[in-house]
Amino acid sequence: MNDSFPIPDLDNGKDRVAVYPGTFDPITNGHIDIIKRGLHLFDRIIIVVAINAQKIPLFTLEQRCAMIRECFRGQEDRVEVGFTDGLIVEYALQRNARTIIRGLRAISDFDYEFQLALMNRRLERGVETVFLMTGFRWIYISSSGIKNAARCHGNISGLVPKHVERALREKFA
Ligand code: COA
Repeated sequence: MNDSFPIPDLDNGKDRVAVYPGTFDPITNGHIDIIKRGLHLFDRIIIVVAINAQKIPLFTLEQRCAMIRECFRGQEDRVEVGFTDGLIVEYALQRNARTIIRGLRAISDFDYEFQLALMNRRLERGVETVFLMTGFRWIYISSSGIKNAARCHGNISGLVPKHVERALREKFA
């Protein structure tokens, strides 16, 4: 066995926990697709509503968390919803998660995600970022795109869960 570099312990027997951070303003079927894919790899996923200083959300933090919780009602043993106004890597460590999940839709996501992942690694080497490819049918959607369509009373059915669709319709009534 080559012992010239340290091999991390596998934490055998412990739950494999990942965090999936984002603004989730609001959660979309594309996000849900990533979470479902992640559940094949991790015992538990903590969806973390976090702050992106560049964004002014339409929905409050409480509303965003409640909408996400509603999506996973009955699956609380596998999917949890949390929030932080601090660093995502610190939140991950506090929750014993060693992995950050991020979704990739297209090449255009890559630059931003690459920077985010490397900054997170620079902040905390004990947390790795893994990227999951979004399902083909969701690659064109974003929370902003859906909000823009809803603002003009466009048909957003099938792009977000029903309760999110209702919340958007009420916002832009
Ligand atoms: N399906 C649909 N949409 C998707 C998607 C998917 N699979 N994957 C990404 N998107 C969209 C989102 O809807 C969102 O759209 P929008 O820009 O129209 O709102 C966009 O892609 C990316 O948003 P999101 O995944 O929510 O990430 P974000 O860039 O808003 O969030 C944080 C970034 C919050 C995770 C990041 O800023 C963070 O970690 N903040 C905490 C502070 C911190 O730790 N900073 C240090 C790192 S710099």
